[in-house]
Amino acid sequence: MLISVSILSAYDNLLSAINKVNNSSADYLHVDVMDGVFVNNTKFPLDVVKKISAISKKPLDVHLMVNDIKTVLDYASLKPDYLTFHVEIIKDNKLIEFIKSLGIKVGLAINPETNINKLKPYINDIDLLLFMSVTPGQGGQSFKEKTLDKIKRLKKILPDNVLINIDGGINDKTINKVKKAGCNMVVSGSFITNNANYNEAIEELR
Ligand code: DX5
Ligand code: ZN
Repeated sequence: MLISVSILSAYDNLLSAINKVNNSSADYLHVDVMDGVFVNNTKFPLDVVKKISAISKKPLDVHLMVNDIKTVLDYASLKPDYLTFHVEIIKDNKLIEFIKSLGIKVGLAINPETNINKLKPYINDIDLLLFMSVTPGQGGQSFKEKTLDKIKRLKKILPDNVLINIDGGINDKTINKVKKAGCNMVVSGSFITNNANYNEAIEELR
């Protein structure tokens, strides 16, 4: 199980959180970019993510909760390992192809209320699918169980090389269901960043 640590709930103490992730067994550092339009919150402007990129020893997994395609291009300039944007903001596969042409792996995220049919035209073009198991906007919310059915249904038609990732409410209580549904990567925020020992929490999920 790949573990990507979201530092959203540690926003007031980012430097310390990044150091703890650096010194942990985490696979990725998950950065939740919010534009105040796609979600009702504004977090991680470009200059902040640029600084994070300079000090992170972990590959960046940037999750863009933004409406504007131009914002996606702005963050692509930082060359993160994964750049994930939402299926709700695209009409065709042009943006996916362009980001891939930059050598960046592309993730496509889907909100809890969005029908999985929306993903079908893109499943052969992407590197990762990110199922939102909370309504995006803030950390520390509780896990929406109905996400598990969506994953199970989509898994039947998904190419093997596409990572199945899930984001929101992942902790020691929800992790087993998520594994059973077929996820091979999880994003976890508050469960890890509220623990004094990040590694202990990470290994509990692994
Ligand atoms: C929600 C974000 C998540 C969130 C995860 O909008 O995309 O990455 O911060 O935090 P927890 O694990 O606390 O739900
Ligand atoms: Zn996220």
